[in-house]
Amino acid sequence: MREQNKNSNTKDSIDITLRVQEAKKRDIGRNIARIDQEVMEKLKIKSGDVIALIGKKESAGIAWPSYPQDSGLGIIRIDSRLKKNTGTNIDETIQIRKVTVQSAQKIVLAPISVKIKSNPRFETFVKRKLNNYPVTINDFVYISIGISRDLTFKVINLKPNGVCTIKPETVLHISEHITEDEERGADYVTYEDIGGLHKEIKEIREVTEFPLRHPSLFNKLGIKPQRGILLCGPPGCGKTLLTKALINESEAFSILINGPEIIGKYYSETERKLREIFVTAKDNAPSIIVIDEIDSIAPKKELGIDKSEHRTTSQMLSLMDGFDDRGRVIVIGITNKLEFLETALLSPGRFDRIIEINLPDERSREEIFRIHAKNMPLVKMVSLKELARSTQNFSGADISAVCQEAAMSAIRRYQSQIDLESEIIDPELLEQIEITPNDFDLGIKKIAKNVNLREKLIENKKTKDSNN
Ligand SMILES: Nc1ncnc2c1ncn2[C@@H]1O[C@H](COP(=O)(O)OP(=O)(O)OP(=O)(O)O)[C@@H](O)[C@H]1O
Ligand SMILES: [Mg+2]
Repeated sequence: MREQNKNSNTKDSIDITLRVQEAKKRDIGRNIARIDQEVMEKLKIKSGDVIALIGKKESAGIAWPSYPQDSGLGIIRIDSRLKKNTGTNIDETIQIRKVTVQSAQKIVLAPISVKIKSNPRFETFVKRKLNNYPVTINDFVYISIGISRDLTFKVINLKPNGVCTIKPETVLHISEHITEDEERGADYVTYEDIGGLHKEIKEIREVTEFPLRHPSLFNKLGIKPQRGILLCGPPGCGKTLLTKALINESEAFSILINGPEIIGKYYSETERKLREIFVTAKDNAPSIIVIDEIDSIAPKKELGIDKSEHRTTSQMLSLMDGFDDRGRVIVIGITNKLEFLETALLSPGRFDRIIEINLPDERSREEIFRIHAKNMPLVKMVSLKELARSTQNFSGADISAVCQEAAMSAIRRYQSQIDLESEIIDPELLEQIEITPNDFDLGIKKIAKNVNLREKLIENKKTKDSNN
């Protein structure tokens, strides 16, 4: 934690520098910045006050006291939205400052990615949703409308300047035009989108971030950093999700490829592509190469496969051995078919760190339900704990499917009132839709069929293997 007197309008205004850490699940989407009580006292702010957050960009958040275990660590916990609005990543620094918050007189929001036909009623609705929301110019603001996905807007005009909050008297206008700004699409995954897997996330971050950030340390100590990491485990448990988050949250240059997608018609083509990827990664180091479904390009040589596949397997082996990068390039392989992968790839110096991503336990399932039901209007009776208890053997992908099914079941009840011809569904109707425990029961029943079938197949395979 660093303090600095600030030459700003207020004489006694100081900046305090803190290190960014991720938000706890329950704070996500609430503009909360968790900071030490001691820091709050220094800045003369109290819990619930709006403060300025200054990273590469300036934004605003609501100060809340930190969790007891974080006390004295000099950190601030903010969610991915605030990280985006302040242009910061985990472990980077951010400055916080006390500000005089003003009520916004006028604000113009431009929709991102979807065109919105606005009308005064919709604008009033958005304003009500954003009541007391802290904003600065160029911020992204998010609102959820009933059952639909979050709508994202960019603040393209704000009066007065500085940090404002939206109030009932604010004149709010929604622009007809989509802003040109590139928005992180639905595919933009962060660690917040992952339920459970805490130990696995910590491990993969340690083995990737440390050598990429501190290569000299490894040189000095004469130890070789891990070059290859293999993620394996059953389908739908978050392997791809986790690597996407890792790439997004890391500053390293990254290349994500999918094994089957780079397999060309001729083996020489696949080999060339692989070589190019390694060269590009090296040229742009520090970097991370992720090869999803790696079993497809490096299958076991003794399996009865054709020669071309042997060639790509050999190429993979020589690429892993051939480049001396001093830990500046890390390769992550992903597979759900470890038994088909060439064993030689697991030798020291190649993929020598294996991280297993298994089916979620009950606590993790509850977290996964919380993530996927985050924007869903649930009636009070829905207990995520209960849902977690009744979904044994379900993967993360199964839980996501249960939530989709539950939402569909709720929508069906309102089908007669929805005008399917209209481009925009009445937001007030969307607001009425609620998801009940019965909707979830139906979803679980439907998905349980697939889960049971899968379990049966695994059992059959096990008995077959043990008979051989
Ligand atoms: N731990 C999790 N937390 C939240 N959502 C999850 C989790 N695991 C899976 N999901 C959901 O399931 C989807 C599929 O997961 P993912 O693609 O990461 O599985 P995978 O392990 O890579 O499976 P495969 O081996 O079939 O490629 C994710 O996009 C996400 O919606
Ligand atoms: Mg995958």
